[in-house]
Amino acid sequence: MLLSQTLCLCLALALSYAAPTIHDVMMSDHDHDHHEDQVHHNANPDRCDGIEFDAIAPDEKGHTFFFKGDHLWNGFNGPAQVSSAFFRELDDYHHLGHVDAAFRMHNSEENGKHDHIYFFLDDKVFSYYNHSLEEGYPKDIQLDFPGVPSHLDAAVECPKGECNSDSVLFFKGEEVYNYDIATQLVKERQWAHLPNCTSAFRWLEQYYCFHGHNFTRFHPVSGEVNGVYPKDSRHYFMRCPNFGHGGEAKVPKCSEVTLDAITSDDSGKTYAFTGHNYMRLDTHRDGKHTFPIARTWKEVTNGVDAVFSYSDKIYIIKGDQVYIYKSAAPSTLIEGYPKSLNEELGIEGPVNAAFVCKDHHIVHIIQGQMMKDIDLSATPRVVAREASLPISGIEAGMCGPDGVKLYVGSEYYHYESPGVLALSRMLQEPKNVTPDMMGCVE
Ligand SMILES: *[C@@H]1O[C@H](CO)[C@@H](O)[C@H](O)[C@H]1NC(C)=O
Ligand SMILES: *[C@@H]1O[C@H](CO)[C@@H](O)[C@H](O)[C@H]1NC(C)=O
Ligand SMILES: *[C@@H]1O[C@H](CO)[C@@H](O)[C@H](O)[C@H]1NC(C)=O
Repeated sequence: MLLSQTLCLCLALALSYAAPTIHDVMMSDHDHDHHEDQVHHNANPDRCDGIEFDAIAPDEKGHTFFFKGDHLWNGFNGPAQVSSAFFRELDDYHHLGHVDAAFRMHNSEENGKHDHIYFFLDDKVFSYYNHSLEEGYPKDIQLDFPGVPSHLDAAVECPKGECNSDSVLFFKGEEVYNYDIATQLVKERQWAHLPNCTSAFRWLEQYYCFHGHNFTRFHPVSGEVNGVYPKDSRHYFMRCPNFGHGGEAKVPKCSEVTLDAITSDDSGKTYAFTGHNYMRLDTHRDGKHTFPIARTWKEVTNGVDAVFSYSDKIYIIKGDQVYIYKSAAPSTLIEGYPKSLNEELGIEGPVNAAFVCKDHHIVHIIQGQMMKDIDLSATPRVVAREASLPISGIEAGMCGPDGVKLYVGSEYYHYESPGVLALSRMLQEPKNVTPDMMGCVE
């Protein structure tokens, strides 16, 4: 799983929209804020020159900020901007010239610190919420984080499940301080094999130590490094000419979105499929990201027609074939598959869309304007009910907690349930796909 995620990371950045948020994209093309240089004497640094970052941290919306001196980059794409344009009060301490470390607090709703960003400068800590400095800050680091030293090099959040408890890892020289958020206990470690990190970043459940223009992925509990590191950050965490595969993939406009399929599994992972790529839609805290389908579902090399999730498995339909994978990572194809649609579900292809509602056993198969219901708990599988729908051209469909959504191009139709859909005779007004839903731009 670790390895495949590294590959994904690389390919995600190389092949598709590396700039995962709308904000990134809007910033990338237009504004080179030259006027800023009149106030700040540092010329805008270029991260493609191979620089060492002071700190890296995401905000509550999944925008990732890379800090260097008094500048930052917002996202994986775009030019440097003055940090105080985003975090205003940092300018009052401008003489400090940089931040030492930063991280986003996670999972601490009970103490009111959910999704706050902390910055560390010398012996002070700044807490930001919604890009505003909170009252009482800056304060001495040890008032908030007893046992954690001043003049840090790096910091990164580590939620329970990935660390033993909700923690923050602080780095200073060769020392690593594992700070338990609830108990405020600090465990000091030396990970001598790990380079001294000047910034650290958690991204899509993986941990990265940045040093020079390189990074090394490590295990947050053991510090273990698996795989070939260091790697050059410019291939992975930013877009630079002559690095990575250099593709200038664009984030689509919402009005140009077309889906082949969409599904959400029992663990809440939500995937949208288009062409040879898929996008995770449930990772908003880290931005939305696109990966090649075949990176996760190896045998599916030519796109999909329909995808649905049922009982810890994901069913991928292409032509007259069905591939069934275990949902848990790494996705493995169940032995004996792909099989023909006829053998598996008792129907002929092609299929336009398919969905199962949570805890139900019926797969609703859309073919043209027909919806065919097949009971997955019965053998042999046969079409138990058919309904003619008022909508034509359905390309993808999903059943979620708020009902059924059927996608036609960049529009979708929303029904309370498959039952309501089956009985509907009138064509309702479609709604437009939004940036929040698909990571597209208006
Ligand atoms: C965040 O800040 C913006 C602009 O300053 C404001 O409009 C918005 O209401 C704030 N949101 C929250 C949750 O405080
Ligand atoms: C790492 O930090 C320690 C303590 O500051 C320092 O002695 C050591 O030289 C550093 N190592 C490297 C490779 O920079
Ligand atoms: C970066 O990594 C490469 C090996 O991949 C190494 O040769 C180089 O010295 C490293 N540079 C820095 C600044 O860490």
